[in-house]
Amino acid sequence: MRIYKVGGAVRDRLLGKPVTDIDWVVVGATTEEMLAQGYRPVGADFPVFLHPKSGEEYALARTERKSGRGYGGFTFHASPEVTLEEDLIRRDLTINAMAEDDQQNLTDPYHGQRDLEARVLRHVSPAFAEDPLRVLRVARFAARYAELGFTVAPETLELMRQLSESGELKALTAERSWKEISRALMEDQPRVFIEVLRECGALKVLMPEVDALFGVPQPAAHHPEIDTGVHTLSVLEQAAQHKQPLTVRWACLLHDLGKGLTPEEEWPRHIAHEHTGLKLIKAVNERFKAPKDCQELALLVGQYHTHGHRALELKPSTLLDLLQSFDVYRRPQRFEEFIAACEMDARGRKGLEQRSYPQADYLRGAATAARNVAVQPLLEKGFKGPELGEAIKRERLKALKAYKEAASA
Ligand code: CTP
Repeated sequence: MRIYKVGGAVRDRLLGKPVTDIDWVVVGATTEEMLAQGYRPVGADFPVFLHPKSGEEYALARTERKSGRGYGGFTFHASPEVTLEEDLIRRDLTINAMAEDDQQNLTDPYHGQRDLEARVLRHVSPAFAEDPLRVLRVARFAARYAELGFTVAPETLELMRQLSESGELKALTAERSWKEISRALMEDQPRVFIEVLRECGALKVLMPEVDALFGVPQPAAHHPEIDTGVHTLSVLEQAAQHKQPLTVRWACLLHDLGKGLTPEEEWPRHIAHEHTGLKLIKAVNERFKAPKDCQELALLVGQYHTHGHRALELKPSTLLDLLQSFDVYRRPQRFEEFIAACEMDARGRKGLEQRSYPQADYLRGAATAARNVAVQPLLEKGFKGPELGEAIKRERLKALKAYKEAASA
């Protein structure tokens, strides 16, 4: 039995990046031998084991044959006869298809090291097509390593294009896709993820609502970049530069989907896009079974981002409605994330990246004013049930009127 370090751990060591997870491949062993040595099987019919002490993943060298559509359509063939080279050739990218023994001797039959040096993401073999998730993986690696100058090899992009056109991407489960999407959005350059997906035609399949934004104009006065797709990428870029959490990044990506529905004769204006977009945001949320906090924030930002921009002009009653919609009293963090998404939206415009956003502090101040309304005196006055609710609202409105007056004085 021979054991090698493989995949990301080898790649990242050679790139001088920190290695977090280590994957191992075991050549020349049977399942029985692994079990006898105390390794714990991960699943019933999957040749992957966890090390009894370290908990790291050890996979038997295997070849894969495709028997159907998508991930569920794999049959795994693992046996002691499968060689290291046979295992490596079925992996996604050459830079992920290197192995290392315990002396750090490199096995690199598909020239991963050469591609690392040339900064190229290149598929190893036609077996790439066996797992359509790899289209998303390559886009994610492109985003992660963009700062190092990596690009996707033209022949790999072509293969990704074929896979996108074949309809295979539709067979991916929501869970697998979301894992890639959410990881990619958290990279330093998430816009590259979307750009690569768009270039290979995968965006049109995965998120046609986002793809449709490219080529849709907006008024130059507010949007010097004009194109709604370009704007969306810039908003996402701002969110990454400001180290925003996943919820905010997801909301940034989806905030303007309604603009893709505007009839051409109304361009470049997009009246009520905040409302028309909601059903699209809901559809994308559900397609990928995004976590609840991501779903909620995306919908709220979609519906209210223009309120955010117009915060200083809003009537106290509208401001109160906004705060109520966010349940800012119990969910202050979510309102902060809304403010952040609005600010990223304001800055994600050509030449306006450094603009100040006084709306942010104004909204925070309004939330504090409304939150500071004390309930106890109203209870003491005898208000109960729905009447109490109304009385609290009245007091909050009063507080917001005073807040607005003081702010504009
Ligand atoms: N792999 C693959 N195809 C996939 C998933 C994984 O070929 N769809 C192979 C690659 O060789 C990859 C290795 O399995 O390097 C480990 O996969 P994973 O842990 O998912 O990714 P890493 O490459 O380690 O990358 P990351 O740093 O993003 O975890």
